[in-house]
Amino acid sequence: MVQEGDRWWRDGVLYQIYPRSFADSNGDGVGDLRGIIGKLDHLAWLGVSGIWLSPVMRSPNKDWGYDVADYKSIDPELGTLEDAEELIEEAGRHGIRILFDLVPNHTSDQHDWFRDAVSGREARFRDWYVWADPKDDGSAPNNWISVFGGESAWELDVTSGQYYLHNFLQHQPDLNWWNGEVRDEFDDILRFWFDRGVAGFRIDVAHAIVKDSELRDNTPTTDQDLEFYRNIGQLPEYNMNRPETHDVLRRWRKLADTYDPQRILVGETYVHDLDRLVEFYGQDDELNLAFNFPFIHANFESKALRATAEKTMGMIPPASWPVWTGSNHDVGRFARRWCEGDDAKIRCVLMVLLMMRGTPFLYYGDEIGMDEPEIAYEDLKDPVGLRFWPVGKGRDSCRTPMQWTAEQGAGFTEASVDTWLPLGDYRRTNVTAQKEDPTSVLRLTRDLIALRREAQELTRGSYDPVDAPDGLWAWARGGRWRILVNLSDNDAVVDAPPGRVVLHTTREWDDRPTNGSLELGAWQGIVIDGA
Ligand code: NOJ
Repeated sequence: MVQEGDRWWRDGVLYQIYPRSFADSNGDGVGDLRGIIGKLDHLAWLGVSGIWLSPVMRSPNKDWGYDVADYKSIDPELGTLEDAEELIEEAGRHGIRILFDLVPNHTSDQHDWFRDAVSGREARFRDWYVWADPKDDGSAPNNWISVFGGESAWELDVTSGQYYLHNFLQHQPDLNWWNGEVRDEFDDILRFWFDRGVAGFRIDVAHAIVKDSELRDNTPTTDQDLEFYRNIGQLPEYNMNRPETHDVLRRWRKLADTYDPQRILVGETYVHDLDRLVEFYGQDDELNLAFNFPFIHANFESKALRATAEKTMGMIPPASWPVWTGSNHDVGRFARRWCEGDDAKIRCVLMVLLMMRGTPFLYYGDEIGMDEPEIAYEDLKDPVGLRFWPVGKGRDSCRTPMQWTAEQGAGFTEASVDTWLPLGDYRRTNVTAQKEDPTSVLRLTRDLIALRREAQELTRGSYDPVDAPDGLWAWARGGRWRILVNLSDNDAVVDAPPGRVVLHTTREWDDRPTNGSLELGAWQGIVIDGA
């Protein structure tokens, strides 16, 4: 049973920080942990309850932190272990908990384990990775394709004559989760950080940790399959999505629960159907929260979003809790992906995410409606962009530095410093200007979060669908509240219960009484208090 104090991650709003891009405290153009410490006041003011930090462990940065070379360290560019401890403590003082990113599927090829493993077939850590002999003709052991390259997921190690598996870059060798020592080692890594006070982990590629023990070929896609899989050409049935992954998640949940029920596991459950997604909650004995990619990838129109959200809520086990997200460091920012930079649309999305039943995750900059700049080829850092340019431009444009001020350096770093990724349009969109403007996106975000904090029905109350004209999404929360969001280009006449508009996306109708029908403008939303 969930106890009152254990609900922080259900009632609260979580906030993802890409550490290299949040705040640079030492003027090297790269964000760092001390920079984040310096911005805790902003986050407390915004009202978030927890931060998910993208990886901060030592990494050669072939995939910007998602290639870890030492799981019990902090990357020197980002800070020290002491900085991490201070961040956890200071955040706690601000009422904010910290989640670390755990990358258990693969290590860096610079990790000591892998360096040892490639030294020969008899090496101490050889079996910690997935090795296989070539086929008779010398080709890769099976047809698995790397997510980052459209080519074989196997790399030949010429010295030993065997291939190793890398579902991502060749610099990210997959760990062998059938090896008990790997499991024990990761228990230890979880404990290492739990002992230092982290509130939990976001688990990278949580759906793919264990591989098929027989390394069977994936099945080629047919016309019937989802476009996402058709683009890869095969269904990731054997290199990902194995049922045995759930054993690992259960093991970690048990471990987390030995601390206290406030420690949580959040999964990057990158699956495209809800049946699979809800499995990751188990019987409330696996992940506490599982990212909802079918929602993230739904078409940006009320019917599709609403259908996915309502289906999710219908399918999720009663003890479990959904997650609502629009942006992250892989899929991009909703301000661009869904809204094409349109301010009115951005406000509607924030209202949807923050007024649903479930945990919203905001990505740094979402609170100001930060958009994505175009990144020139010469400025690319993401291996995915470098590999697929110009067909795919990679993920750099959603990872640019946070826009704090209109001054040179955007308040992210000193004026004269070159930032590791180019700055976006900070003169137009920044925290400082929006903080002063009561009608800004930032103030709307903050007021929506504050409203959730004040009104328990908006966090714990039921979600009840309400009929609405095409293009409009209407729902009630906990009986008392009514949310109407017009996700269309047309004004719409809707029924509004007697009460008062508490928040209007443009703020023009804040405090206006309601009773009967009203005409809601295109791309506007309201929250009505019907008490
Ligand atoms: C998912 C992470 O979110 C992404 O950024 C990374 O490139 C891959 N996993 C590989 O770790």
